[in-house]
Amino acid sequence: MNRMLFSPYKIKDVEIKNRIVMSPMCMYSSDTKDGKTRPFHLAHYEARAIGQAGLVMIEATAVDPQGRISDQDLGIWEDAHVEGLKEVVERIQAHGAKAAIQLAHAGRKSMVEGDIFAPSALAFNEEMRTPVEMTTSQIEETIEAFKEGAVRAKEAGFDVIELHGAHGYLINEFLSPLTNKRNDEYGGSLEARYVFLKKIVDEVKTVWTGPLFVRLSACEYADGGNSMEDFIQLSAWLKEQGVDLIDTSSGAVVPAAIPVYPGYQVKFAETIRREAGIATGAVGMITSGLQAEEILRNERADLIFIGRELLRNPYWPRQAALELNTKIEAPTPYERGWN
Ligand code: FNR
Repeated sequence: MNRMLFSPYKIKDVEIKNRIVMSPMCMYSSDTKDGKTRPFHLAHYEARAIGQAGLVMIEATAVDPQGRISDQDLGIWEDAHVEGLKEVVERIQAHGAKAAIQLAHAGRKSMVEGDIFAPSALAFNEEMRTPVEMTTSQIEETIEAFKEGAVRAKEAGFDVIELHGAHGYLINEFLSPLTNKRNDEYGGSLEARYVFLKKIVDEVKTVWTGPLFVRLSACEYADGGNSMEDFIQLSAWLKEQGVDLIDTSSGAVVPAAIPVYPGYQVKFAETIRREAGIATGAVGMITSGLQAEEILRNERADLIFIGRELLRNPYWPRQAALELNTKIEAPTPYERGWN
């Protein structure tokens, strides 16, 4: 029987061979603190491509050195980063997978030395430093940094770019009324809080015509945060701008307890997909082939992002295929052993 999890998915000119995406996960392994890739990154991402994830997304990669979560994050803030990233892309693509990169700025959640930046001078919690409120020119420079990041991602050969608009990092800090207290053009109404992301998308699109995803935290688990109506509106605006897919995560914009259970964020992906009419990715405690197939068949999402399960088991797609009693194209020496 044909399984939707193993059916191809085409966005613009990019065809992903199945619906399985390796969710972006920071590895904090750029151990010389220069944002460059190491042999670890090659092995780590190539292994998931061999394991038959259709799209392997590289971890949050900083567009600015002050936008790193830690000084071991990967970076894309200078041309010297392109070569290493290109090697990662080639290793991924060699196994028939497509390669994606998540462009990120950590905002007030950065733990690197020196000033850290955010829309407003509010610390995440008592342990973290208070950020500097960004000036208009710093905001413009950061928008430019995302654009430059997209130029380098293209040079490195990535098939898909995702903007990290979730988890309380910089873009999310602009979107949320809990963290954005500005009263200039970048703050106030939902529309104004969206201006930062809107400009990033517009700038990125001047240099990138490929598939563009945005990850949103589509629930803030806190009073006074954006509502589901707000996220539907944001997603509709992003769709209008030509964004292809909302990668639907949640939380971490302010300290808050997140109720975690199998598929705990699928309902957000489903609602946005239905109400904003845009493709979505579902993520969060999706650990079995059956669970993934259910989400796709019931039209709750278009792609399935797998995080920790792919850390535990790089061959998870093969396991899911066995579970779903289906044969996958596996152009590797493992084929005989698995099918
Ligand atoms: C993450 N997550 C994450 N998310 C993101 O958007 N960018 C990132 O760089 C990271 N980094 C990261 C590191 C590690 C070690 C983990 C475990 C998680 C979140 C991740 O992509 C995913 O959304 C969550 O882990 C939930 O999905 P799973 O793990 O339940 O499948």
